[in-house]
Amino acid sequence: MQLIDGKATAAEIKQEIAEEVANIVSHGGKRPHLAAILVGHDGGSETYVKNKVLACEACGFTSTLIRFEDDVTESELLSQVDKLNKDDDIDGFIVQLPLPKHISEQKVIEAIDYRKDVDGFHPINVGRMSIGLPCYISATPNGIIELLRRYQIETSGKKCVILGRSNIVGKPMAQLMMQKRLPGDATVTVCHSHSKNLKEECKAADIIIAAIGIPNFVTADMVKPGAVIIDVGTTRVKDETKKSGFRLNGDVKFDEVAPLCSYITPVPGGVGPMTICSLMKNTLAAGKKEYYK
Ligand code: GUN
Repeated sequence: MQLIDGKATAAEIKQEIAEEVANIVSHGGKRPHLAAILVGHDGGSETYVKNKVLACEACGFTSTLIRFEDDVTESELLSQVDKLNKDDDIDGFIVQLPLPKHISEQKVIEAIDYRKDVDGFHPINVGRMSIGLPCYISATPNGIIELLRRYQIETSGKKCVILGRSNIVGKPMAQLMMQKRLPGDATVTVCHSHSKNLKEECKAADIIIAAIGIPNFVTADMVKPGAVIIDVGTTRVKDETKKSGFRLNGDVKFDEVAPLCSYITPVPGGVGPMTICSLMKNTLAAGKKEYYK
C-alpha cells in the first residue's frame, strides 16, 4: 500500500506556482489577485478562507478578503459580486459556501463573471468542463485528478465508483474521470443515497472516490484488494484530545481499508491540501488570462 501524500504534493505545486509568479513579475507582468467573500462566522468556512489567504501568500498572489455578517441581504451580496466583476485589478474571486438560508447560492454563483469564476461553479464553466473545453474546473475534483497524474495511477479502462453526487465534487469528478484523456478514460459509476447494491458496486471498483460525507462509510468488506481509494470526507468529529476540540474524519475506515489497497489518501493530508492548491492554479490561470480574454 502506498500513501498518497497530498500535503507534500500541494507544497510542491505551490512552489512551482510561486516560481512562475516571480518570473511573471520580474518581466513586468501583473501579480495575480484573488478575492474571497466570506459571509458569517461558520468555523469550517473561516478555516478554509484563512487557508486560502495563506496559500495566496505562499504563491506570491495578492489577496483580498471581503467579509459580511450573516444578515447581509442577497442584493447587498450581489452588488459586491458586481463590483468584483468590474474591478480590473481582481483576476478571480470566490464566494465561500455555504451561504445563509435567505440567500440563493445559485443566484450568487450565476452572478459571477464566468471569466473570474476560479471556483469553476458557474454553469458556463461546468458545461465547458463536461465537454472537455478549457475552463476553470472546481478545486476538489481537479486536485484529485492532479494526484492521480502525479502518482501515475492508471485510470484508463478502470472501473471507478464515485460515492456522492454533489455539484462541487461528485458530478464534476464523474465528468473528469470519463473524459477522453488521462487521467480519465475510466468507466464511471456514480452512487448516492438512493443507490441499490452500493456495497457490490464498491467491491467491483478499481478506484473508489468517496465524497458522501459519512465518516467511516467505506469499510474493508466493500473494497477489492488492490483498489485505489480516494477519501474526500472531512466531517468534523468531537475529539477532546485535540486543541480545537475536534478532528477531521474521512469517509473511509482507514485502519481496516488501508492494508487492502494499492493507494490511499489519508484524512487529513490527502485530498484537502490539494483543493486549495487547485484554486491557486485557477487563480494563476486567471492572472494569465489563460482560458478567457
Ligand atoms: N465550500 C466548500 N468547498 C468550497 C469551495 O471549493 N469553494 C467555495 N467557494 N466554497 C466551498
